[in-house]
Amino acid sequence: MNSAKVMTVFGTRPEAIKMAPLALELARRPEFEAICCVTAQHREMLDSVLDIFQLKPDYDLDIMEPRQTLSTITSKCLTGMDSVLEAARPDLVLVHGDTSTTFAGALAAFYHKIPVGHVEAGLRTYDKWSPYPEEINRKLVGSIADLHFCPTPANRDNLARESITKNVFITGNTVIDALHTTVIKDSTFAEPVLNELDYVNKKVILVTCHRRENYGQPMTNIMTALRRLADAFPDTELVYPVHLSPVVQEAAHKYLDNHPRIHLIPPLDVREMHNLMARCHLVMTDSGGLQEEAPALDKPVLVLRKETERPEAVAAGTVRLAGVEEEPIFRLASQLLSDRSEYDKMAHAANPYGDGQACRRIADAIAWHFGLRETPPEAFSP
Ligand code: UD1
Ligand code: UDP
Repeated sequence: MNSAKVMTVFGTRPEAIKMAPLALELARRPEFEAICCVTAQHREMLDSVLDIFQLKPDYDLDIMEPRQTLSTITSKCLTGMDSVLEAARPDLVLVHGDTSTTFAGALAAFYHKIPVGHVEAGLRTYDKWSPYPEEINRKLVGSIADLHFCPTPANRDNLARESITKNVFITGNTVIDALHTTVIKDSTFAEPVLNELDYVNKKVILVTCHRRENYGQPMTNIMTALRRLADAFPDTELVYPVHLSPVVQEAAHKYLDNHPRIHLIPPLDVREMHNLMARCHLVMTDSGGLQEEAPALDKPVLVLRKETERPEAVAAGTVRLAGVEEEPIFRLASQLLSDRSEYDKMAHAANPYGDGQACRRIADAIAWHFGLRETPPEAFSP
């Protein structure tokens, strides 16, 4: 074998941000024929990432419709992948993380007897319902996959507990590779609100909230706590780029509209997002990706969830679990906004998730697996 045909499959914004640098790394190397297939489980939010990284997919299943059920997304991805895999016949399919696209992409490859590599493998909460449906998606993909690319040693240990010990590589998270290309000193923004904010005299709080298990009462609690915070702390500006999910849009506008210091804005492109994060005071989020990015940028994070599959930054002291009840969220955030020493304890750069070399390690591991390289990559060590 002189080269391996490797297909990346992804469909949502976070998968795209974390897979784009890897797709580009594979395309750059002579030992691979790189093919890219998007399901477009997300449309606008995916296309924005493809534009920024100048990545042109070879296949686009274009499956997105408003308010799709999980079964619809999964079945459309699965049947859509049939003809793509028939036509392209890759030697390896790479999927990322834990979305419906991830699960369906891995299952489709398995049905076609094509080996699967799982990027961002081994994250677990051990709670079937949280995050929902991601915990089960990633467990299922873990049992389908032939190659496992774990961001951290703890992720490797999680797989070992499930007796997955073969072809497991510790690589760091590719999101840190992405972050190295997007953050620019003194950047200006295309989103006008972001240029008008006073980052020196005001405390800019970056908020995101979108998870399915937070739909309903938890989201109401979170939004209510955010509005109370803005009222209680006149020196804050809350910036919330609202996910395009209609459920999230409705909740955010219902509780947070018409406040002079709460800015509900459309989703930001990834470059603007990373640069806003680099300049803000505090991050409050239920996102997975932000929990990895913010610590690398020196920003404290309050996680708007009951658990996290990313305990590394909690252990490092830069991330705290705030839960999904109004009072604890308000209390924890108030403490950070009013007690400088509490804030300083959290605001130190910790980078347990990567060193910017994850894509290189993953590509090296694939090359080694196919006999295109003599040695496996060294493990990432935090
Ligand atoms: C999905 C993933 C979740 C991930 C999140 C990242 C699953 C089950 N969930 O959740 O793990 O954290 O993406 O954001 O795979 N929409 C648009 N335009 C877009 C994107 C979304 O209009 O560009 C709207 C559509 O109405 C869509 C809805 O958002 O139906 C929800 O999207 P969906 O992919 O079903 O779920 P997410 O909540 O985004
Ligand atoms: N992100 C972005 N624009 C936004 C919100 C998030 O570019 O308006 C980026 C963020 O920096 C991170 C990723 O999207 O890299 C996280 O995606 P999301 O929160 O949708 O999903 P999760 O990580 O929770 O699966």
